[in-house]
Amino acid sequence: VGLTLFRNARIHTPVDPGRPAAGSAQGRTVSWEKGTLLCGDGRIVGVGEEAAVLGALDAAARRGLAEVDCGGRCMIPGLVDPHTHLCFRAPREREFLARLGGADYLTILRSGGGILSSVESVRACPEEELFAATRERALSALRNGTTTIEIKSGYGLALEPELKQLRVIRRVGRETPLTVVPTCMPAHAVAPEYAGRGEEYVDLVASVMVPRAAAEGLARYCDVFCERGVFSVPQARRILEAARAAGLGCRMHADELHDTGAALLAAELRVASADHLLAASDAGLAAMAAAGVVAVLLPVTAFSMGKPYARARVMVEAGLPVAVATDCNPGSSCVESMGFAFGLSVVQMGLSVDEALTACTLNAAYALGLGSTRGSITPGRAADLLLLDGETPGILAFRTGISAVAEVYKDGVRVWRASEGGASDPACPPRGAAGTGAALEAL
Ligand code: NIG
Ligand code: FE
Repeated sequence: VGLTLFRNARIHTPVDPGRPAAGSAQGRTVSWEKGTLLCGDGRIVGVGEEAAVLGALDAAARRGLAEVDCGGRCMIPGLVDPHTHLCFRAPREREFLARLGGADYLTILRSGGGILSSVESVRACPEEELFAATRERALSALRNGTTTIEIKSGYGLALEPELKQLRVIRRVGRETPLTVVPTCMPAHAVAPEYAGRGEEYVDLVASVMVPRAAAEGLARYCDVFCERGVFSVPQARRILEAARAAGLGCRMHADELHDTGAALLAAELRVASADHLLAASDAGLAAMAAAGVVAVLLPVTAFSMGKPYARARVMVEAGLPVAVATDCNPGSSCVESMGFAFGLSVVQMGLSVDEALTACTLNAAYALGLGSTRGSITPGRAADLLLLDGETPGILAFRTGISAVAEVYKDGVRVWRASEGGASDPACPPRGAAGTGAALEAL
C-alpha cells in the first residue's frame, strides 16, 4: 500500500463522540499546530505530531512514503452538505427578483410557479442535459470544499421524471469524485395534475413512487416538504411510514415557514434529520433533542429569502445536534458553497467556529448515516481533507463569499487545487480512475 504523509499542516477536526455531537460536544475539537497526517488506501492511518505518527512505521514503510508539504496551511475534514436540490435545469432568477419586490414564496407556488415551474423544466429536460447541469453544480460544490453531498429529487413529481432525476443523481455519484447520497422527494409539492386532490397524490407517492425508487436502489432516504398548504403532518407521516417500510431512511423539511408541528413528527418518527426549522416551536425542538434527531440548518436560504435565521444557539443549548447545509436549489437558495453556509453560521447564527466546523462536517455526515466513515479526521476514516488558505477553520467565516479552499482530497487523492486549476472546470474523472489527481491538475 502506498502511504502518503502530509506534513506541516495546522490540523483541526471535530472530536467524534460516536454519535452526532450535541450540546458542549458540538464545539469539541482537537488541533495540532505542526500536524502530520498519514494516509494509505484512501484512509487516514495516523494523525498527530510528526514524531508520534512516524514512530508507528517501520523503516521500510518510511522509505516508501510520498510526501505533501502543507506549508502551514489549515487542514480540516472535507465539508459535508446534507441537504441539496442540486438536480434542476435552471435557477429561477426572475422569481428571486419578484420576491425581492415583495412577492411571497408560498403564494408563487400556489399560483403554479416556484417549485412547479422547475418541475415543468425538469420534466422537459433530456436526461443527458439534466446530468450535465447537475454535474456542473456538483463540481462547483467540490471546488468550494464539499466532498460528500446529499441530493434530492422532487422536480419530477411523477414516476418517470422522478426516476430520471434519481438516475442523474446516481450518475453524479459515479462520475465525479463526490460521495453522493440520493434522496427521493416526490412529496416536494403536489403535482400539477393533482391540484386540489392532494390526498390522491399522497396515495400515489406512498404506494407507487417511493416504493419504486427504493426497489430500484435509486434512493437511500425519503424527504417530505411538511408545510402549511403543501403536505400536512398526517400526510407526511403516511409517506414517511411507507418509505420506512420500503427500507429507506427518513428526513423532513420541517417548520420552515410556519410551525405545523413538523418537528414533533420528526421526533416521533426519529427521522435522520429535520431541516430548516425557522418556525419550529420550543416543544418541537425539545422533542427532537430527546429523540436525538439532527437539526439541519440552512442559513443560505434564510439569507436569500430575507428571513430571520434559525435559532442555532437555542438549539445547541437545548442539546440538539446541529448540522448545516446549503439547500442549494433553483428557488430559495442558489449557492452551492458550504463555505458561505459556514460563514453565515458563525457571523449570523452565532455558532462558534468549532461548533460550525462540527455542523459542516461530523454532524452533517451523521445526518446522512455516514458518521462512522466520514466527517472527521480520525484514523480509519476516509481521507476526505481540505487545505485552507489560512491558519484556522475560522478563515472560512472571515473570508465568507470567497473560497478559502486551496486543495481538496477525496479518499486520499487530490481532486482540486486552486493554484493550478484556476477557475476552470476540474472535469473530475470518476472516483477511483487511474491517475485521478494528475488528470485534474493537467487542466
Ligand atoms: O428547501 N422548501 C422547499 N424546498 C426547497 C426550495 C425548493 C425550490 O424553491 O425550488 C427548500 O427551500
Ligand atoms: Fe430544501
